Amino acid sequence: MIGENIIHLNEVDSTNNYARGILKDKVEEGSVVLAYSQNQGRGHLQNTWESEPGMNLTFSIILYPEFLDPARQFALSQMASLGILDFIMGKTDSASIKWPNDIYIGNKKIGGILIENSILGSRFSSSVVGIGLNINQSEFSGWIPNPVSLKLVKGVDFNLEECLLMLCSTISEWYEKLKNGHYAELNDRYTSNLYRRGLWAGYKSDGQMFKGKITGIDETGRLLIEKETGKISTFNFKEVEYVPYG
Ligand code: BTN
Repeated sequence: MIGENIIHLNEVDSTNNYARGILKDKVEEGSVVLAYSQNQGRGHLQNTWESEPGMNLTFSIILYPEFLDPARQFALSQMASLGILDFIMGKTDSASIKWPNDIYIGNKKIGGILIENSILGSRFSSSVVGIGLNINQSEFSGWIPNPVSLKLVKGVDFNLEECLLMLCSTISEWYEKLKNGHYAELNDRYTSNLYRRGLWAGYKSDGQMFKGKITGIDETGRLLIEKETGKISTFNFKEVEYVPYG
């Protein structure tokens, strides 16, 4: 069960780095590395993850998904996104998953996931699932594009420890489904909660803006966008940008 063993750190560079460093000790599956403060929190593609110390959740989960075919590794993103989505839906509605694994409320980002996998031969050996979720922070640096927190949405403070335990439980439920091979259920829930799904909106790819409608993902997790011509194009991560509304 995720979160039965929690390693509390006061300050660390990045919980993902710390978690990767203790993999060699064969820590138990589901162990969580939680930091009060990260001084080099990492996001996707060299981005930094900023979080005010003690205000939000910044943690990493250690998993050994040896049962998972690496060809299906996108299912780990789906599992973590859906666990966070269920947690947020318990607090407020209108949450969605911005492909591939950002968590949104309305048009703003409340959380992000950084998954670092280690694959040996043709099998998974470990996966570090790093999660940053904005809970009580109410002011963000100007360079962060469109941040939001639970507090900004609900107007009240939340107990971080309680939030972490709830999150561990909602993520565990989806990890169990993954272990039991319920890929179709993961896909259906993920697709039906995709940010902008079925809505015409602006996108940019190869420097070209276009209007499109997200229809879902393919079997490897690539994004499918229908263009005005009716043609459906497939995008890998970072091959397409969402043009903001408004
Ligand atoms: C993103 O949206 O760019 C992913 C952000 C992931 C941030 C979390 S915070 C806990 C863990 N440790 C890190 O250094 N990054 C992840």
